[in-house]
Amino acid sequence: MSSGQTSEPWRVGVLFSQSGFMAVIEETQLRGTLTAIDEINANGGVNGRPLEPVIYDPGSEARAFGRYARKLMIEDGVSTMFGCYTSSSRRAVLPVVERLNGLLWYPTLYEGFEFSPNVIYTGAAPNQNSVELCRLLMEAYGRRFFFIGSDYVYPRESNRIMGELVRNSGGEVVGERYLRLNADRSEFQPLMREVKAAQPDVIFSTVVGDSTVFLYQTYHDFGFNPKVVPIASLTTTEAEIQAMGFDVGEGHLTGAPYFQGIGNDRNSSFVELYKKRYGDDQSTNMCLEAAYFQVHIFAKTLEQTNSIDTEIMRTSVMGSEFDAPQGNIAVNPVCGHTDLWTRVGRANRQGQFDLVYESSSRVKADPYLIGYSRNLAYA
Ligand code: ACM
Repeated sequence: MSSGQTSEPWRVGVLFSQSGFMAVIEETQLRGTLTAIDEINANGGVNGRPLEPVIYDPGSEARAFGRYARKLMIEDGVSTMFGCYTSSSRRAVLPVVERLNGLLWYPTLYEGFEFSPNVIYTGAAPNQNSVELCRLLMEAYGRRFFFIGSDYVYPRESNRIMGELVRNSGGEVVGERYLRLNADRSEFQPLMREVKAAQPDVIFSTVVGDSTVFLYQTYHDFGFNPKVVPIASLTTTEAEIQAMGFDVGEGHLTGAPYFQGIGNDRNSSFVELYKKRYGDDQSTNMCLEAAYFQVHIFAKTLEQTNSIDTEIMRTSVMGSEFDAPQGNIAVNPVCGHTDLWTRVGRANRQGQFDLVYESSSRVKADPYLIGYSRNLAYA
C-alpha cells in the first residue's frame, strides 16, 4: 500500500537513558524529542500519518544502546532512530545502523573526526564550540589549563583538540585527569587538591552525567573563586546546573550552540511550550534543543519524500534549513553535520547562562577541522 493511502503511523525509535548516571541530561533529550513528536502529531502528523515513537531506556550503558538499536531495526521494523548522548553509545549504535541501513539522528556535541552515511549529526563539532571557548578563556583568564574529563572517548578526543589549540597558541596544559564515568563525590577530593597545587588559570571540564554535579560541588567546597579560576565546559548545561544547585554553578562558563536565555521569539515560544509541558522550574538546554529540532527536520523531510527509507531520507535532508530555537541552522551536505551557532555563556544565580560571546551567523560544521590552523594566533 502506498503511504498516501494509509493512516498508519510512522514508527521511529527513541534511545535515551531514563535511568542511571546519564539520565540527568538524556531524560531532557527524551523530553525534547517527545515535545516535537507531539507538536507534529497535534498538527495532523506527516502527510496525515502520526509519528509513533518506540522508546527504550538503555540505562546509561553504552552496549545496551547497541542492543536496543538492533531490536528496533530487527524486531520493531524501525529504520529511523533518535538517540544517544555519549560518544560510546553512538559508537555502539553505529555498526548496527551501518549494517542494517538505518538512520541515527544524533543530537549531542561530540569530538568530530567521524563520518557515517547512516548518521545525521545535529550537535556541535569542535570547531563550533572548542575553538571560540579556548580563545575567550586565554584572553580573559590566562594560559594555564587543567583538563578534567570522564574517562571515555569523547573527553579524551576533545581534550586532544583543546590541548593542541592551547599549546599551539602559547598556553600550557598543567594537568590532565580522567575519572570513571560514574565517579562519586569522594573521587573528586584528591583531584581538587591536585588542581590547587597546579595553580591553573582555568579548569576545563568534559565531565558528563551525575559526576558533573560532584565536580562543581567539590570545587565549591574547596573555596575556589569562579571569577579567578572558572570551570569552563562543553558539557555542563542548564540541566546539570539545576542538579548541582544554582549557587554552586554560578560564575562558571560553557560553550554551546544554545542556551535557554538567548532571547529570540522562536526560542521564547519553544521555552513556553516546554515549560507548559514539564513545569515552570524546568529549563531547556543545548542537548534538548537539538533533540527537539532534529525531529522537526526529519518531519519536514518526510513530508517531501513520503518515504522513511534511509537513502531517500538522507539524500533529501542534505542542505535543509530550519528555523530552530537557537537560530537558523542547516544540515551541511558535505559532511551530514549541522551548521550551528557558536555561543559562550556564564551561569548566573538563576541557573541560566548570560551570553558572553555569540557568533554573528551560523558556523559551518567542520568535523575534521580542515579550515582551522589549530592555532589561535597568540603564539
Ligand atoms: C559526548 O560524549 N559526545 C558528549
